[in-house]
Amino acid sequence: MKDILDSPFIKKMIEITSNMYRLGWDERNGGNISLLLAEDEVAPYLDVSDVKRRIPTGFSAPELEGKYFLVTGTGKYFRLVASEPDVTLGVVRLADGGKTAELLWGYTDGGKFTSEFPAHMMSHVARLSVDPENRVVMHCHPTNTLAMNYIHPLDDRSFTRTLWQMCTECIVVFPEGVGVLPWMLCGTNEIGAATAEKMKLYRTVVWGMHGLYGAGKTMDEAFGLIETVEKAAQIFMLTAGMPRINTIRDDELRTLAEAFGVDYRRDFLD
Ligand code: 13P
Ligand code: ZN
Repeated sequence: MKDILDSPFIKKMIEITSNMYRLGWDERNGGNISLLLAEDEVAPYLDVSDVKRRIPTGFSAPELEGKYFLVTGTGKYFRLVASEPDVTLGVVRLADGGKTAELLWGYTDGGKFTSEFPAHMMSHVARLSVDPENRVVMHCHPTNTLAMNYIHPLDDRSFTRTLWQMCTECIVVFPEGVGVLPWMLCGTNEIGAATAEKMKLYRTVVWGMHGLYGAGKTMDEAFGLIETVEKAAQIFMLTAGMPRINTIRDDELRTLAEAFGVDYRRDFLD
């Protein structure tokens, strides 16, 4: 059996969480990540018949029966993932129609998966229904996106339009736009279901006055989406309250989207 700490998925998780921490997106235990793994990715590193613990999830997700996930632990600090991977991370397999998570590795201090597990798993179901190659759901608290939440209307169309106007490449990176949820209680099945509903349309979802979700085929795609939204929000915040004398006009956004051949939300432009 190979050492799981040498696996590409643990190495990538360490790289991504360390970067997210340094970018200021994940203070204290803020943020969580889930990565869908194929059994043949996991099998060289783990005895998949050796279940350490069976942990109730509090929801059902029959679509994910038997699926493996690498998931950050609840209360764990992204800052410490690199030095304590076996405590801060876990590999689980969903059983009993998603009602149970079978722990195969990690959470060695007796901990468990993130409190946002419902939002992650329901988002995986939603993304897989529209993109069978989706593997990643990522949540964090990026500073400027959060700041923008307090001074900008929280609806999909206007939030997306503003972000698209802030950096030329935004409409190319997230042509489908960004979904926006109002403030809701986190850690619940309700916010999970609301996030998943948005995830059928968008790979990026804002949680009002809380943070951001990104999804993708790879860790780099999800990270890159969050990074691009956060950059646009930073430009918005740097220019907020100042007279705006230039913008990227709707006809220019349309020209851009067409030049790059992306399928964009045409109804988000005037
Ligand atoms: P966890 O520590 O349970 O992952 O929660 C962090 C967080 O960001 C909640 O939204
Ligand atoms: Zn959060």
